[in-house]
Amino acid sequence: MNAPTPVPAADPAGVMGLFDNSHQQIAAMLQRLTQLANDLAEQGTTLPLRTEARAVRDWLGREAREHHLDEERHIFPPLLASGDEELMHVTRLLQQDHGWLEENWLSIQPELTAAVEGFTSFNAASLQETSRLFCQLYADHMLLEESVAYPAVSPLVQGQATTEAMRQEIEQRRSVRAQLKG
Ligand SMILES: [Fe+2]
Ligand SMILES: [Fe+2]
Repeated sequence: MNAPTPVPAADPAGVMGLFDNSHQQIAAMLQRLTQLANDLAEQGTTLPLRTEARAVRDWLGREAREHHLDEERHIFPPLLASGDEELMHVTRLLQQDHGWLEENWLSIQPELTAAVEGFTSFNAASLQETSRLFCQLYADHMLLEESVAYPAVSPLVQGQATTEAMRQEIEQRRSVRAQLKG
């Protein structure tokens, strides 16, 4: 629990590999969430599914939020300062998405906790529906980032010093968070 979350390995082509890597990890975890919701609906809160619910809840609650912070510190500001109206508009939409994703997550998290604890109040159909909406929004959001935001920000943050500072900030923040969790 004390170990800092490993920062994804940098792509040789640049620091944007950090963000692409995070998206791959998030997409994999969203698949696990969908599978979990379906399995819980079919099998109920069995011990293995409660364990899986804990793993999915803890990972998404921590890593997805960290990823959003990474973007809000390093991706969105240069785009908002680019002077390109269309890019600035897309970036504001992406910022808005982070708010919606957080709101959705705040519905899903207690549902997963009910599954983890095996509460009789756990409602599998509700988790399936909230998860479906969350995964859809997330997939659309990541697609927009990968197709518009990431390619546009790359030339704006080029340079070894800039990308190294970005990496250091990301690593430092995660390390401090891990220490605080103690
Ligand atoms: Fe994002
Ligand atoms: Fe993202």
